[in-house]
Amino acid sequence: MSSPQDARAFLALTQKISQARGVSCESYKDKCLKRRIAVRMRARGVHTYDDYSRLLDQDPREYQELLDALTINVTKFYRNPETWQALRPYLQRLAEPRPSLPLRIWSAGCATGEEPYTIAVLLAALGAPGTIDATDVDRVSLERTAAAAYPDTAFTEMPADLRRRYFAGGRPLPAIRDVVRVLPHDLLREAPPRPPYDLIVCRNVVIYFERQAQERLFETFVNALTPGGVLLLGKVETLLGPARERLQLVDPRERIYVKPA
Ligand SMILES: C[S@@+](CC[C@H](N)C(=O)[O-])C[C@H]1O[C@@H](n2cnc3c(N)ncnc32)[C@H](O)[C@@H]1O
Repeated sequence: MSSPQDARAFLALTQKISQARGVSCESYKDKCLKRRIAVRMRARGVHTYDDYSRLLDQDPREYQELLDALTINVTKFYRNPETWQALRPYLQRLAEPRPSLPLRIWSAGCATGEEPYTIAVLLAALGAPGTIDATDVDRVSLERTAAAAYPDTAFTEMPADLRRRYFAGGRPLPAIRDVVRVLPHDLLREAPPRPPYDLIVCRNVVIYFERQAQERLFETFVNALTPGGVLLLGKVETLLGPARERLQLVDPRERIYVKPA
């Protein structure tokens, strides 16, 4: 249990971070913020929120370390293979009626890019043209997305034949890279970059957000989808709020939702 003084110091610290770095701390779950800040406090050997706040004033590099810790960016190519298998027929259905028109896709919270390049591989394997907006709030992650050079460990969930066909030496082939557009974007503060979208993939991002922020974002997603469009969430994420009435849950296990046409 934290004391009222702790709670005040925590609030003051998160307000300061929000103001200094334009991060909407108030929309992230307190538990998540506390855990991440504690990691940085331990790393720097300070024991109170006030001391950590002073440290941020003295050492601006610590802000970047803290932001890296806050935006947990674990990801992999073809993460949860069963999800991508379940999505395949929906992608096919989106592409079929309009074979020459590129599908418009948004990978929201794309971390270091494994997710948008996975989607580009799926499109190529289906022979469906498309473009993917790959967005994240974390600029370091986005630099890695743009650099697109990956270690073997990033591929452990991807079927070997897809890796062979669409990658060379840990890098996606130009045809895969060319359809991914990398953009900085804060889901808590900015409108969708280039709506409408046929598919929005937002996995393992909203779990860190407060309920109200999640509900707002889900409504934004529904508005940004074309009729018949698809929303894919992470395996432990659930659609909340008014958006539930506007989307049909077509695969409860894999969290696939369709906007009625
Ligand atoms: C665990 S990763 C998910 C990566 C990928 N979607 C996946 O499931 O493998 C979470 C990502 O959400 C991003 N994120 C956190 N808050 C965000 C925000 N407000 N706007 C955009 N992205 C955010 C983080 O920077 C991080 O890269």
